[in-house]
Amino acid sequence: MDESEAMDGLCVTECTRCPKLVDSRSRIVNGVGPEDADLLFVGEGPGANEDEQGEPFVGRSGTVLDDGLRTVGLDRTDVRITNCVRCRPPENRDPTKDELANCRSYLETEIERLDPDVIVTLGKVPSEHLLERSVAVTKEAGSLEEVRINGMPQRVLLCVHPAATLYDRSQEETFENALERAAELADVGDGDSGQTRLDGF
Ligand code: URA
Repeated sequence: MDESEAMDGLCVTECTRCPKLVDSRSRIVNGVGPEDADLLFVGEGPGANEDEQGEPFVGRSGTVLDDGLRTVGLDRTDVRITNCVRCRPPENRDPTKDELANCRSYLETEIERLDPDVIVTLGKVPSEHLLERSVAVTKEAGSLEEVRINGMPQRVLLCVHPAATLYDRSQEETFENALERAAELADVGDGDSGQTRLDGF
């Protein structure tokens, strides 16, 4: 890290690696949630609401994510939520390859310290970024892959972006099924074991 960059725990407090994002951001948007969460959700990058409030997924996509989490017995505060890039791209365009690469070490640090049971990628950009291959996310949502991140094996569950459900209602089920699988794999929420469900019988 050079002197224009600083981290405080998992929070990036200063960074000027991406000149265009430095111009378009009003702040750096760091991940939120417990630093020992079993589930880590990774989005693409902050939008206007996130840039304004300084927290990932607080706009319409955030409402979809929160509702989906509740459906599987989880609260937003139970999980960690972060993004591939921490600064809002201008006009909400996708982050460029260089911007993704510039921000990668921060994401890797977050993943390494958290060492979650499952990483859930929300949409095409984070899925391709972490798997380092092209992904047909609608088709592949719900599938699990193991990847090495900083030399450590991590389980990555692919999921559509919550906003996809707003444009295409048929993706709601895909989204919810992926969240259900994530909760089961991490043994949290309603997915925390078949046993508790069977206990009532
Ligand atoms: N979309 C994302 O990918 N990330 C956010 O934080 C908000 C919307």
